[in-house]
Amino acid sequence: MLDFGKTMAATLHAGLIIYLIGNLGAGKTTFARGILHGLGYQHIVKSPTYNLVEIYKISRLYLYHFDFYRFNDYFEWEEAGFREYFNSDSICLVEWPEKAGDLLPVADLQLFFNMLETGRSVEIRVGTETGKQCLKHWKNQNNV
Ligand SMILES: Nc1ncnc2c1ncn2[C@@H]1O[C@H](COP(=O)(O)OP(=O)(O)O)[C@@H](O)[C@H]1O
Ligand SMILES: [Mg+2]
Repeated sequence: MLDFGKTMAATLHAGLIIYLIGNLGAGKTTFARGILHGLGYQHIVKSPTYNLVEIYKISRLYLYHFDFYRFNDYFEWEEAGFREYFNSDSICLVEWPEKAGDLLPVADLQLFFNMLETGRSVEIRVGTETGKQCLKHWKNQNNV
């Protein structure tokens, strides 16, 4: 999952919104960690479970890693200013997007994580033209 995240990092750019969907323990945070490492972030990548969001600045890029598992007050969304985080200067990775209901902007890519007997599987779905281009780029770079 770390390696997969690293390969994805090479194809990401500011403005992308990616949902990470799957049960607890399915590998969403590990994948996000791989992306951050791939982008050159060398420090510890914590799970945002308690803070709802962890913020990273990597040179000029902002990356926001959300986890809405504990999210239960929709008003909190506006009050916390989360809407502003989804902008053209930042990449947003969102665990448990379903908990934020329809407050979230549409995802460019949706990744569905599944636990197998050994390891994990990931299904990728495209939500926008930008997401389609991104996936195409990733496939070309990884000979998929
Ligand atoms: N491909 C994998 N194979 C085996 N274990 C994995 C894999 N990906 C992640 N894990 C492990 O599963 C556990 C939960 O992963 P995590 O990324 O925190 O899940 P989530 O964020 O989906 O709840 C961690 O101990 C992690 O090391
Ligand atoms: Mg997690």
